[in-house]
Formats: sequence, structure tokens, C-alpha cells
Amino acid sequence: FDEHPRAGLATAHTNIALVKYWGKKDEKLRLPFTDSLSLTVNDFYTTTQVVVRDDGAPRRFRLSGQEVNGPAAERVWKYIERLQRRFGVSGTLDISTANHVPMSAGLASSSSAFAALAGAFAAAYELNVDREELSRMARLGSGSASRSVYGGFSRWIAGHDDATSRAVALDENPDLDIRLLAVQVDVSPKSVPSTQGMRRVVETSPYFPVWVEQTSKACDEMEKAIERRDFTAIGEIAQQNALDMHALNLTARPGFTYFQPQTLLVLQLVDELRHNGVECYSTMDAGSNVKVLVQSGNEARVRARIYEVLPQAPITSTGAGSGLVMTTL
Ligand code: PMV
Repeated sequence: FDEHPRAGLATAHTNIALVKYWGKKDEKLRLPFTDSLSLTVNDFYTTTQVVVRDDGAPRRFRLSGQEVNGPAAERVWKYIERLQRRFGVSGTLDISTANHVPMSAGLASSSSAFAALAGAFAAAYELNVDREELSRMARLGSGSASRSVYGGFSRWIAGHDDATSRAVALDENPDLDIRLLAVQVDVSPKSVPSTQGMRRVVETSPYFPVWVEQTSKACDEMEKAIERRDFTAIGEIAQQNALDMHALNLTARPGFTYFQPQTLLVLQLVDELRHNGVECYSTMDAGSNVKVLVQSGNEARVRARIYEVLPQAPITSTGAGSGLVMTTL
């Protein structure tokens, strides 16, 4: 008998897609239609502890010390049961998690959340898994989480089944000056959850095949741009791919958009700054907030211009971050 319950602790950072995952081929296995490519960031992360108990205590899930029930907890427990079945392990879990993703940043936390949970689970059970396997485990919780296993730039290879769909590291410690500014234009919850948005474009947009083709090309071009440390190409490809994704949403039946009036304002400011010699590029995810890619020498100018026009919009700044770290306690 173990005197101490088995426990694992893990930290994962969020990532921002530079070439987006937008469409599932298999919803249950979370297999995407295309590869996607992202930058893991430094300042936003999730730390999760998993304790395996055999003493009959009820399962428990706490977020920042508060017990969570309802749909968010159900998603976590379904995910845990799936991992337990996959690895043939059992036990009642006590999960505590803390999200260091500022609410004001307008960044999704599911990528860091499910990568940290997969890591803490693997550490608690002392599973003999490598990082590609951890990426596959994280993918089952949230597609974008597959990429948060790695630091810096990583690419999620779409694959064709559960075994082949996983992310790989491209450059975990990029020797490249790249900053990401998250500009929050709106606090209300997103109008269309990502799963629903993806389903709608896959099932109804006549332009979906074009999106698949363009995104696959964008991934290959982005990988080359990263190899060359070519900030201009990275920014141009990222901005165009985000515009393609948001244009695709308008072509669903019925069309939908994440844009709010102030979203367009920030997109225009980014283009205006660039035309005036301050190099910066925009990208957006399943929400109305805008992320700006910029190099450190231009960061202050970008912030100042956005502040001038939208003084009430909080701006959070970050750089490249590290991959999943896990320990068995
Ligand atoms: O992993 P999900 O289901 O939260 O979907 C993420 C979708 C985007 O953030 C819009 C794009 C991406 O690749 O992260």
C-alpha cells in the first residue's frame, strides 16, 4: 500500500495559432482537416495538479480554489474517463487547477488547460509517454492544446487517425524577436463557440475546400518563414490566414462573424501603422479581440497608437514561451 496518494503536477502555456485550425474531420477524435501552426507564449499559462485517490472520497475539480460543477466540469470528467480507459488505469481524481491567463487579455485558455491536464494525468500515473503521445492526449481535450506541449513554434500535423494526429516542435527556442500584443475590444462571451463555428463552416460553406487548400499552403510557407527567421513573411502569412478564416465564417449558411465594430478599428490601425513604416500584423481567433504581432523596437509605437484611438481597450504583451513541464509528486 502506498502511504501517499499518487499525484502529478504540470504547467503549460497558451499558444496563438499563426495558421489556424478551423474545421474538424472527426469531431470525436478531434482530427482536423488541415495542419496548423502556432507560437506558444510566455506570460499566460495553466498549472494543474492531479491526485489519484483510492480511499472512496468523491472526485473533485477545483479552479483557483473554487469547486467547479456543471458543463465545464462534465467536459473535464468525460476527458479523464477517456484517458483512464485508454491507459487502463483507475482511481478517483482530485484535480486542482489555476489559470494564469488574465481575463483582460481576451485569450482562450483551453490550449494551456488541456495540455496541463494531460501532463498532470501522465505524471500522476507515471505513464511512459513521449511528447508526441502527450500531444495526442492533449488533442482529445481541445485541438489547440496539442500544440501547447511544445515551446516556441510548433505544428499540429493533421494526420488521418488518432495515432497520426499530433503536434511536433519546429523551433522551441526561436532566435527571433517576436512579440504578441493582445488587444481586448470586447468583454462579452464569444457569440459562437469554436466547435459550433467549425461545424457550421465544414457543413455549409461552399468555400470550405478553398480554405483547406489555402491553409495547407500557408502552413508550409510559414514553416519556411520560421526557418529563415523572416518576421515579415511570418506576419504576412499569419494576417492573411486569419482574414481567410474570418472571411470563411461569413460564407457559412447562415453566415456569422466574430467581428465587433472595434475589431475592425484595430485591424485598420494595424494596417495604417504598417503603411506608415511601423511593421506589425494582426491575427484573431474565435472571438472579437485582436492579437498584434510586432518586434520589440516597434511595440511602444503600436501600443501608443491603439491607446490613442481606443484608450479603454486593455493591451497585454508577451513573447515566446516554453513547453509543458511535468513532475510526479
Ligand atoms: O482548440 P479549440 O477547440 O479551442 O479551437 C481553437 C480554434 C482557434 O483558436 C480559432 C484556432 C487555433 O488553431 O487555435
